[in-house]
Amino acid sequence: MEVVIVDSPAAGAEIAARAIAELLTTKPAAVLGLATGSTPLGVYDALVRMHQQDGLSFASARGFALDEYVGLDVDHPESYRAVLQREIVGRVDFAAGAVRTPDGWAEDVPAACAGYERAISEAGGIDLQLLGIGGDGHIGFNEPSSSLASRTRVKTLTLATRQANARFFHDDLGAVPKHVLTQGIGTILKARHLVLLAWGTQKAHAVAQAVEGSVRAMMPASALQLHQHATVIVDEAAAANLTQADYYRYVYLNKPAWQGI
Ligand code: GLP
Repeated sequence: MEVVIVDSPAAGAEIAARAIAELLTTKPAAVLGLATGSTPLGVYDALVRMHQQDGLSFASARGFALDEYVGLDVDHPESYRAVLQREIVGRVDFAAGAVRTPDGWAEDVPAACAGYERAISEAGGIDLQLLGIGGDGHIGFNEPSSSLASRTRVKTLTLATRQANARFFHDDLGAVPKHVLTQGIGTILKARHLVLLAWGTQKAHAVAQAVEGSVRAMMPASALQLHQHATVIVDEAAAANLTQADYYRYVYLNKPAWQGI
């Protein structure tokens, strides 16, 4: 696992966006794993800028969201389908239908989850998966105690996650769905490159546990330790509890110039 410590979220977003741009340049039909939450928004802004200024194209690319709420109105502005459309899909040149989210409105939930797994496989698997991290270490909506081998399925959110996400629902906890569909940890681990981003002191504990703690279901992001190509990009505040921070800085500063993240 590579840990990149940056001065600001904007600097970290730029590194992640550059990795995506390089991927799209070498593989225009790349499959991107898209995340929601506040953390990746700077990455999406940087990609939009690269699209507008440098002609970075998503026209042949495809995308898969990590997760989706269950039970929202189909046109609810906070469904992850709507959020991704607003933050990235509709701002660049993805082809119509090229980005999918798990179907949080499906009548047959197990069939929808199996279909989502199948669609990812049929697309050739995810090349680069962006990830945020919950304060409790969740990735996607895989709450603590999620199986490290899990696949796309329905999950029940913890009260803490619903409270954290209430800010997107006018601080009305009752409006935050209790259920979600999420790629499993096993699904996420199949992506070829994982790029986890974290900003701020409220993520410092989870980041340290994920990177330096034991691999365990109670800390879903610790599963990244099992992946061959995982990059963790954190600002100084989110890096505060890492015991090996100086070593990670040293490794990054001394990387061969040709090697990306
Ligand atoms: C939600 C999302 C996660 C995200 C997490 C952290 O639970 N499902 O994908 O990583 O929130 O959100 P934020 O980036 O807003 O801190």
